[in-house]
Amino acid sequence: MPKPRHVHAARRRRWRPHRSKWTTPVGAWQIRAEDGAVVKIVLIGKNGQLGQDIARAAAERGHSLLGLAHADVEITDPASIDRAFEEVDADVVINTAAYHRVDEMEDQPSRAFEVNATGVARLAIACRARAWPLAHVSTDYVFSGVLGRPHGESDPTDPLNVYGISKRAGESLLALTTARHWVFRASGLYGVAGASGKGGNFVQTMLRLAREGRPVRVVDDQVLTPTYTVDLAHTILDVVGGAPYGIYHATNAGQCSWYDFARAIFELSELAPDLARQSTSETGVRARRPTFSVLENARLAQIGLDPMRHWREALADYLCAAKSVR
Ligand SMILES: NC(=O)c1ccc[n+]([C@@H]2O[C@H](COP(=O)([O-])OP(=O)(O)OC[C@H]3O[C@@H](n4cnc5c(N)ncnc54)[C@H](OP(=O)(O)O)[C@@H]3O)[C@@H](O)[C@H]2O)c1
Repeated sequence: MPKPRHVHAARRRRWRPHRSKWTTPVGAWQIRAEDGAVVKIVLIGKNGQLGQDIARAAAERGHSLLGLAHADVEITDPASIDRAFEEVDADVVINTAAYHRVDEMEDQPSRAFEVNATGVARLAIACRARAWPLAHVSTDYVFSGVLGRPHGESDPTDPLNVYGISKRAGESLLALTTARHWVFRASGLYGVAGASGKGGNFVQTMLRLAREGRPVRVVDDQVLTPTYTVDLAHTILDVVGGAPYGIYHATNAGQCSWYDFARAIFELSELAPDLARQSTSETGVRARRPTFSVLENARLAQIGLDPMRHWREALADYLCAAKSVR
């Protein structure tokens, strides 16, 4: 039956296909609907640091994207999700929304579970009802770090703090709700937009402290892989373009402590602040954190996707990009 005219009009208003800047031929991993039409992505968290880079990467690939900000959808509220999805026709939904103030939420576990667990389940229920696959972003904090080696996707999880527990619960509720899902576990994200939920990213904080001439003390007993949101955005789009459902570890390559990361930021920015190491116990932070949360992108390697580049190379690119938007 043909759709009423107002439905088509509303859809035309809401979907704004971006002009394609994608110059390489359409590859096996590039999203295309079965009929070859432009793929329609619904992005939750469009104003976040990862969300903004996913929107940009999707535009570069010629996908059609409906970006939803927090003002457009509240993922803890099923009615809000239904309103946001009304008259929308999606090939995939990507969720980047989260509550991730790690220390604050130790005292607010109910909010953490509402957004990071129940909120994800509500989204999954809405997607399942529409037969839309859901891609969701999770964290290295689902691990405690006791393994002392990079974590593969099938390693047992054992989060140490409320954030990690709530994100792990979100992963499980998603898997229980719909088989058509991907989970991307990332770590130490930084992007030009800065994490809105955290009041900026680590790189921005380091540069600000150095420019203000303040002493910089950074922990050297937490090892991870900082990851540039541009690289994660492209990996997510590659995977949802046709890779099997399930959990994917998706970080830049290599590993470093936060202290090593800070040193690299200053070296590449030609800044020389008073930088010194600190132990986690000296920081007095509320939440426990993994000492070694490096992830191995084992599944990405298995399906033959290009490895994500080294974190140093990504950081150098980020610093150039951040300079050009200042
Ligand atoms: N940042 C990291 O270091 C890191 C590391 C590993 C994994 N992750 C995960 O990566 C994902 C993206 O992180 P990010 O750094 O891009 O975060 P971000 O910049 O804080 O972006 C999250 C976005 O989601 C929106 N949002 C928050 N709560 C919402 C809700 N209840 N309903 C609808 N929208 C909501 C936020 O809007 P408002 O700001 O307007 O509320 C924000 O625009 C998250 O899932 C996070 O857990 C982050």
